Amino acid sequence: MDKTQLGMNGDILSSLRPYALDDYIGQIEVKQKLKIAIQAAKMRNEPLDHILFAGPPGLGKTTLAFVIAREMGTNIYVTSGPVLERQGDIAAVLSSLNDGDVLFIDEIHRINKTVEEIFYSALEDYKVDVMIGKGPTARSIRIGLRPFTLIGATTRSGLLSSPLRNRFGMILELQFYSIDELVQIVRRACGILKISIEDSAAQLIAERSRGTPRIALRLLRRTRDVATVKGRSSIDSLLVQKTMDILEIDELGLDEVDRRILRTIIEVYDGGPVGLESLAATLNIEADTLKEVHEPYLLQKGLIVRTSRGRVATDLVYSHLGYSSRIRGGLFDGSLRESEEYQNQD
Ligand code: ADE
Repeated sequence: MDKTQLGMNGDILSSLRPYALDDYIGQIEVKQKLKIAIQAAKMRNEPLDHILFAGPPGLGKTTLAFVIAREMGTNIYVTSGPVLERQGDIAAVLSSLNDGDVLFIDEIHRINKTVEEIFYSALEDYKVDVMIGKGPTARSIRIGLRPFTLIGATTRSGLLSSPLRNRFGMILELQFYSIDELVQIVRRACGILKISIEDSAAQLIAERSRGTPRIALRLLRRTRDVATVKGRSSIDSLLVQKTMDILEIDELGLDEVDRRILRTIIEVYDGGPVGLESLAATLNIEADTLKEVHEPYLLQKGLIVRTSRGRVATDLVYSHLGYSSRIRGGLFDGSLRESEEYQNQD
C-alpha cells in the first residue's frame, strides 16, 4: 500500500481541531459514551472497543477519532474505504499496528467485499487469513495481529453490511450542532487564530453554518480574509454579512448548489414528488452525493420531505426562494408525508 495513503499522528491535525474530549464542543451524548468507554479500557489496560461514527460530512468524525487516540495515548493511522483495494493492502496495514493503536477508516461503507471479509476475523479475533499466490499453488496463511481499535466513519450506519456493522462495539450517530454550540466553536477558533469577534458576528456565522462545524470554520476563515483585505482587526456582523453576500450564502445557510436543487424540484418537477435518481440526473450530481451530502440538511430544515413517491419541496421553499405558493392538495396531502418506506426508496 502506498505510504501516502496512510497518515500518522499529526499530519492531518489542523490547529483548529480540539485535542482533548473536554475541549470538544457539542455531541454531548456521544462524548459521555466515549468518556466511559475510554476510562474503562484504560483501567482494564485493554484496547478500546471498535467504534463506528455515522453522520453527514463535517460533523467531527475524523476529529473525534484523533481525540480518542490522544485520550488513549496511542498512535492513529488514517486511511479510507475506497483506497483499500486488495486483501494484501489491508493485511499490510493491520499487521503494522501496535498494541492499542487506532486504525481510522473514512468512508468505510465503500470498502469492497473481499477486503470487508478480511475484517471479520481481524476485528473479532485479531487474526487475518491472506491468500498467497494464484491457481493450484495458492495457499492461505494466517497472520496474528496486535489488539487494535478500528474506528470507522460513514454517512449512515445502514450503508454497512450487517456482519461488518455488528462487529463494532459502539455505533455513535453524530447530530447537527445547535447554533449555541457553533457560536462556541467559532469563538474558540477565533481565540486560536488570535482575532476578536463581536457576539452578533459569531451568531451570524453560526446561523449560516448548516449545523456543521466544518462549514462554520470555513465561513470564519473567509470572513477573516475579508477582514484582512479591509485592514480590520476585529470581525463584526457587517463584515460577516458582506462575506455571506460574496459567497452567496443566504439566511438559512443555503449555498448555490442547495438552491439549484430546490429550484429544480420546483421548476422541472413541479414541486415533486421526484425520485432521487431522476433529480440527480437533472442536476448532474451523483445520486449518493445528493442523498448523503446535500439532502440531510434540507430535510432537517423541513425544506424537503421524502415520501414514498420521491422528494417534495415544502411550502417553506416557495416562500424562501420567492415563488408564489403552489396550489395545495393532491400531490402533497397527508398521505404523501414522510412515510416509513422512505428508508428503502432510491
Ligand atoms: N473545531 C471543530 N469542531 C469542533 C468541536 N466540536 N469542538 C471544538 N472545536 C472544534
